[in-house]
Amino acid sequence: MIESEADMNSKRDYFIWTKQFAELKGCTVMDKPVNDRTVGVIGTGNFARALAKRLYYAGYDVVIGSRKPNERNIMAIGECLCDITLTSIDDCIKQSKLLFLAVHAENYKDCLSRHFDRLNDRIIVDVSNRDSPSKTDSNAEYLQNLLPKATVVKAFNVISAYAMEDESVSSSKQVFLASNDVACRERISSMARDMGFHPVDLGGFEVS
Ligand SMILES: NC(=O)c1ccc[n+]([C@@H]2O[C@H](COP(=O)([O-])OP(=O)(O)OC[C@H]3O[C@@H](n4cnc5c(N)ncnc54)[C@H](OP(=O)(O)O)[C@@H]3O)[C@@H](O)[C@H]2O)c1
Repeated sequence: MIESEADMNSKRDYFIWTKQFAELKGCTVMDKPVNDRTVGVIGTGNFARALAKRLYYAGYDVVIGSRKPNERNIMAIGECLCDITLTSIDDCIKQSKLLFLAVHAENYKDCLSRHFDRLNDRIIVDVSNRDSPSKTDSNAEYLQNLLPKATVVKAFNVISAYAMEDESVSSSKQVFLASNDVACRERISSMARDMGFHPVDLGGFEVS
C-alpha cells in the first residue's frame, strides 16, 4: 500500500512528538520503525548533509551513519531536521536496507571493512566522483567487488551538493543511473523522481 503525503506527515509529526515527550520525561528515545522508506546515508560531509535534507523533504525516513556520531552535529544542515537520526555506521546499516555511501572512494575500504557482513543483502548507492583519473575499474565496480553480495547502484554523482540541497538551484535535474540489477535501477529511479530529479537509466556497469 502506498502511503499518502498526509499519512507520512502525520507519522512524522507523531514521531517528533513522541521523541519530545520521551525526552521531557527523561525516557530513552525509541528507534523509529524500519520501513521501505527508511534510507541510510553514510558520511556527514557536504554531500551527505545535502542528500539527507533532500531525502527528508521527499518524505523518506533518514538515518545518517558516522564514524564519530557523538562529534558530529546534524544541525550543521542549517535548520532543525529533528527527525533525522544521527548514529554509528553499524546502527545505520542495521536500520536501513538501502544506503547512500557519501564517502570518497579512496576511503571505502577503511569506512566499510568492519561492516562487510552486515552489508551483504543491502542496496548501496555510490554517489562518488573520481578524485583522480584512472584507467581501471569505475568506483562503482570497485565497490561492487568489495561487496559482492550487496547490490550497487551508481547515481546522483553529477548533482552538486549545492544543487542537491536547494531545489530552486537552476542546474540540470538529470540523474544518470547504472547498475547490473534492473529492479534496483528502477527503485532508485523512482526515488530520484520523488526528490524532484529526472532519472536517466544507462544500464549496466559497463557505462559507469
Ligand atoms: N560535494 C559535492 O558537491 C559532491 C557532488 C557529487 C558527488 N559527491 C561525492 O560524494 C562523496 C562525499 O563527498 P563530500 O563532498 O561530502 O566529502 P566530505 O565533505 O569530505 O565528506 C566525506 C565524509 O566521509 C566520511 N568518511 C567515512 N570514512 C572516512 C575516512 N576513512 N576518511 C575520511 N572521511 C570518511 C566522513 O564522515 P564521518 O567523519 O562523520 O564518518 C566525511 O564527512 C564523494 O564520493 C564525492 O565524490 C560530492
